[in-house]
Amino acid sequence: MSEQDRIPAHGDLSAEEFRARGHEVVDWIADYLQGVRDRPVLSRSRPGDLLARIPAEGPDKPEDWHTLMRQLDDVVMPGVTHWNHPRFLAYFANTASVPGILGAMIATALNPNGMLWRTSPAATELEQRVTGWVARWVGLPDEMFGMIQDTASVSSLVAIAAARQSIPDYRRDAGGASLSAPPRLYVSEQAHSSIEKAAVVLGLGQDAVVKIPTRADYSLDPVALSEAIAADRAAGRTPFCIVATLGTTSTTSVDPIAEMLTIARDQKIWLHVDAAYAGPAAMMPELRPHFDGWQHADSVVLNPHKWLFTPMCSSLLYTHHPDTVREAFSLVPEYLRSDVGATSEDTESLPPDYMNYGIQLGRPFRALTLWFVLSTYGREGLESRLRDHVEMTAELAGWIDAHPDFERLAPNPFSAVCFRYRRAAGPDTGDGVQLDSVQEDEWASDNESIMARVNAGGRAFLSHTRLRGRLTLRLAIGNLRTERDDLRVAWDEITRAAAALSV
Ligand SMILES: Cc1ncc(COP(=O)(O)O)c(C=O)c1O
Repeated sequence: MSEQDRIPAHGDLSAEEFRARGHEVVDWIADYLQGVRDRPVLSRSRPGDLLARIPAEGPDKPEDWHTLMRQLDDVVMPGVTHWNHPRFLAYFANTASVPGILGAMIATALNPNGMLWRTSPAATELEQRVTGWVARWVGLPDEMFGMIQDTASVSSLVAIAAARQSIPDYRRDAGGASLSAPPRLYVSEQAHSSIEKAAVVLGLGQDAVVKIPTRADYSLDPVALSEAIAADRAAGRTPFCIVATLGTTSTTSVDPIAEMLTIARDQKIWLHVDAAYAGPAAMMPELRPHFDGWQHADSVVLNPHKWLFTPMCSSLLYTHHPDTVREAFSLVPEYLRSDVGATSEDTESLPPDYMNYGIQLGRPFRALTLWFVLSTYGREGLESRLRDHVEMTAELAGWIDAHPDFERLAPNPFSAVCFRYRRAAGPDTGDGVQLDSVQEDEWASDNESIMARVNAGGRAFLSHTRLRGRLTLRLAIGNLRTERDDLRVAWDEITRAAAALSV
């Protein structure tokens, strides 16, 4: 049968056709997952490689299925960087775990739009349940209202919009013009760029974001925070939001949440917690103290799509003030009213219409994907996998400390290590005040070369940051499939690349 004959002029492929292609795709995914360790982690694609092989014009006639699958292998796969690779150790890893893939397949097949409760009650109620499960596991109270957003960037934007909504003279109809004084938001200088971007999107402007210096361990300095707020008040500005990061992007440092909470309470301003990466670590009792106090924050974000083995996109936003979030976002045109034509029984104690708690109207069935992951591993399974990552990270830190030519540049409370190669170790550069700039440039170039060599080798993928002027290598563990042997391979690659510098 030709491809043209397989595809009806109207309607979709048949169930039989789906079954045949679906089985093939599942086999393809299983082979991919089984063999991903043997692929180069970082794509070796050159700019334009794929563009040169996929025509600018879409096909007029149905493409043959086998040709399509061949193109997937030959054209698309070379351009994929494998976030599923156990030696993906750059940025913060993510994982398409098998339950996540299966849950996402079903969610995609059902394809409900959970904008209103009635447009798919199961989507809304499962979202309530899974956000509730995770909240309990990480020590957030049941009273916090949970929702699934696509990314932490959007979760934080929603939280900051709600914080602005709670400024007494803010009126949504007039927007910024209603404010009698310029609003100010406070973050550590180590906070993620998404906070500043939210300020841009919300029309607050980048100048509204005050970056507070950090202490030696890269956590926000609460004294500097209090001083900055006092200075702004004295200058007639309106402090309205503090963002605490628990697990910053560069070093995974932990802001002093309890002190920040006290400041926020005293100042009557919103405290948002960005725990996009590290939040799941609160499942481990031994690491829970890092989070103590976040249960009282006005809002908290954590991402299952980072360190909870759930495929993109899955970000959980919790708040004690759902009414304020609704005030900031709810706009219900006539055609979306669910109360029209409903009986009072239908509208009494109705679960939320999630479209009222964020930016987009359409909401995919993300709860189903997360439900599959949480149910398959259970709390204990997830906790033990996270603990394994933290233990492996401590082992790596030990290897770095034991090596005469490497040094760690920040504490590693969770699953990432910041370090560098320091050839012919000179005096400790300490807090960077007395940097010998020539020496620093040499060290920076050495570490860039090490990273480039390791990444080009394809057996591991590292990224970098800059800490107090020092170019820093950064190795973060977060993929479900990373094992101790993977870490050894990565460390071998790093030390070999360093040894090659002096050849
Ligand atoms: C602390 C922190 N917050 C926010 C983000 C942004 O996450 P997303 O990609 O979900 O927007 C990141 C990304 O790494 C992060 O590390």
